[in-house]
Amino acid sequence: MDPHVAANRALWDEWTPIHVRSAFYDVDGWKSGRRHDLLPLLVDEVGDVAGKDLLHLQCHFGLDTLSWARRGARVTGADFSERAVEQARLLAAETGLEARFVVSDVVDLPDRLEGDFDVVFTSFGVLNWLPDVPRWAEVVAHFVRPGGFFYIAEAHPFAWVFDDGDDATELRLHYHYWPSEEPLKFPNTGSYADPDAPVQAPFEYAWQHSMGEIVSSLAEAGLRIEYLHEHPWGALEDVPVHGRGRAGDLAAPRGRRRPAAAAVLTEGDQSGLGWTGMTGESSEEVR
Ligand SMILES: C[S@@+](CC[C@H](N)C(=O)[O-])C[C@H]1O[C@@H](n2cnc3c(N)ncnc32)[C@H](O)[C@@H]1O
Repeated sequence: MDPHVAANRALWDEWTPIHVRSAFYDVDGWKSGRRHDLLPLLVDEVGDVAGKDLLHLQCHFGLDTLSWARRGARVTGADFSERAVEQARLLAAETGLEARFVVSDVVDLPDRLEGDFDVVFTSFGVLNWLPDVPRWAEVVAHFVRPGGFFYIAEAHPFAWVFDDGDDATELRLHYHYWPSEEPLKFPNTGSYADPDAPVQAPFEYAWQHSMGEIVSSLAEAGLRIEYLHEHPWGALEDVPVHGRGRAGDLAAPRGRRRPAAAAVLTEGDQSGLGWTGMTGESSEEVR
């Protein structure tokens, strides 16, 4: 395994118990149904999953995976963090929801999981951890059943180019937009879900991916892009332009899309900055 990916895995192992306890993920609220479990937009765009086989890539500790199970899907979640999968299994047992969880680096998953799926799903905070998006796209396509689809909701790659330093007060280009083999290296302090949590892992590594790289990789892997929705709103507080008030303002337009920042702050949501959705339909001919 790439040493940077291994370092990130150690970080995710450390973050998992912090996240399970965090207000950000609000597991109790999720269990009791006090808060919505999946963003309404996801539910709308993915559609009815009842009776379908659904694979959730990079499922973390399974909250969204189990939310799809609540809606009647037969779910499988995969994540490279053993601790995350351990927690996901516990949560499934505790809630009585049926689910299967697999520990694997996403790029190795075809060696660890058999079969194909009606829906392959992944969301928010997944792509920047991956050095090799073309390989990831091949894995995605590998698991999409003929007639099935892949859906991704993710922070818009353009959102990651701006200065996110503590002293940044205006939009300023800071990070490169184009993909590169070398990851960005960030000193690690706490976690996005709990910035004050003590964490030993010293760094996190992230890879930038351009929209062209992502979409073309999926197309080259054999998926047909049905749509690519871009939304001009965001939710992360640590990028100034996407700060709370602004994100709330930008987010207001349609009833079903609640302000993203409000979702983060009041409902323990897990939405990213801006996001895009894509589905593709595989066919025997193109695979
Ligand atoms: C932000 S979470 C995404 C899930 C969901 N949006 C959430 O917030 O719960 C990112 C997940 O990706 C996983 N991950 C990162 N790199 C991975 C890799 N190479 N293979 C498999 N999982 C990976 C991490 O362990 C983490 O659980």
